[in-house]
Amino acid sequence: MKKIAIFASGAGSNARQIIDHFKNSAYATVHLIVCNNPAAGVLQIASAENINVLLIEKNKFKSTGYVSELNSYGIEFIALAGFLWKLPEVLIEFFPGKIINIHPALLPAFGGKGMYGNAVHNAVINAKEKQSGITIHYVDEKYDHGKIIYQVTCPVTNDDTVESLAQKIHLLEHKHYPAEIEKILRH
Ligand code: GRF
Repeated sequence: MKKIAIFASGAGSNARQIIDHFKNSAYATVHLIVCNNPAAGVLQIASAENINVLLIEKNKFKSTGYVSELNSYGIEFIALAGFLWKLPEVLIEFFPGKIINIHPALLPAFGGKGMYGNAVHNAVINAKEKQSGITIHYVDEKYDHGKIIYQVTCPVTNDDTVESLAQKIHLLEHKHYPAEIEKILRH
């Protein structure tokens, strides 16, 4: 059974979908939620689902990447889902090709530091883009920069607001992220 860690520090709607996707899987399981925010909604999901939680602190994360803790949980794959800190090199080197992220726009556009949540959708609408979408990509030491694995688009219409676009994007994320994680794990 492959053990997945989800790094999430927000509401956790993607974490929820990933947990549900692997709930009855004989292949992989969400074994750990890693979180830097003790008030994050994702922690309630973890507790309701009886999933281990590792609450992390910035300085220790920067210096150790919590590699020994992840290792002692037997983690083999990491999916970021609403995790905003840059990953330290020590962590990326410990899990080569085993860390992925989902970004709520079509990278390489609308990515980088500070480009998360509604800031992304706002920028897409202000740029009068005709389409947006999601990007699933490997994680390297730069924000939103690693090799792209998968993208899917949705139209941006004239009457779209930040909220309506966010909703469309969340639906795409929920539909595709768990399935892509499974594909990568089985590859
Ligand atoms: C998602 O939109 C994802 O693209 C981004 O962070 C958001 C997390 O949302 N990386 P949620 O906490 O999963 O609802």
